[in-house]
Amino acid sequence: MLGERTNLFKMVTGMVRTLIAGNWKMNGLKSSLEEAKKTTQMLQDFPDKADCLICPPSTLVVPMKEMAGDRLHVGAQSCHPEASGAFTGDLSAEILADAGASYVIVGHSERRSEHGERSAYVQEQAHACLRAGITPIICVGESYAQRQRGETKDTVVRILRKSVPTLAESETLVVAYEPLWAIGTGLVPSNEEIATVHGVIRELLIELYQDRGREIRILYGGSMKPGNAAEILAIENVNGGLIGGASLKADDFMAIYATAVA
Ligand code: 13P
Repeated sequence: MLGERTNLFKMVTGMVRTLIAGNWKMNGLKSSLEEAKKTTQMLQDFPDKADCLICPPSTLVVPMKEMAGDRLHVGAQSCHPEASGAFTGDLSAEILADAGASYVIVGHSERRSEHGERSAYVQEQAHACLRAGITPIICVGESYAQRQRGETKDTVVRILRKSVPTLAESETLVVAYEPLWAIGTGLVPSNEEIATVHGVIRELLIELYQDRGREIRILYGGSMKPGNAAEILAIENVNGGLIGGASLKADDFMAIYATAVA
């Protein structure tokens, strides 16, 4: 019922609900749950106009979910394509869903480069997420060299085409544009560059999923901070942020969230 009303609202207004997502990467001990607790408390002070998500290391998914309340979503950073089996050290989407994850980041550039995860594998991971009832956040971005060669748009479209699921409800898919050279460097593309790439991603999503492609959220990621968030979030087809370093401290993360609901 609520879902139907949300869909009707979106159809009438053309609005897509912003998603402010934190990727803690390989940072987070039990003591870090204090920051998540602070985040849940601070969220109460803001209008419920944007979704908020933290993807901690998998060991913290269960305890974070237990203290998250209904405003903070909890996610994971990768998953295995299979549901279960002899895959030592891996976690399936089903296991992560059981632990309380409602989103999983797939195809992050650090997974692609450090673990050799290619787009076909990312697509399998995305399918696994949908099978388990989890929303995949599919990451895509160009290297500095590709940017210098003027290949940004082609690279993003080529990678994304191979990484997205063959069928997806718009509600259950998120795309994140993360230029590799902007991750953890303090460098950010110009607003025009972000608008161009997000526009190209939107066109591809509409080609692949027709009207539903208009509602798929496209996040920007790469050195997003409290100081540049408002500007970036105001760009057309930027429907949220995927934030690394600045998501580790509740104050910074909530300063970004504040710009999304202002
Ligand atoms: P930074 O915000 O630290 O640049 O990281 C971005 C990122 O990789 C999020 O997934």
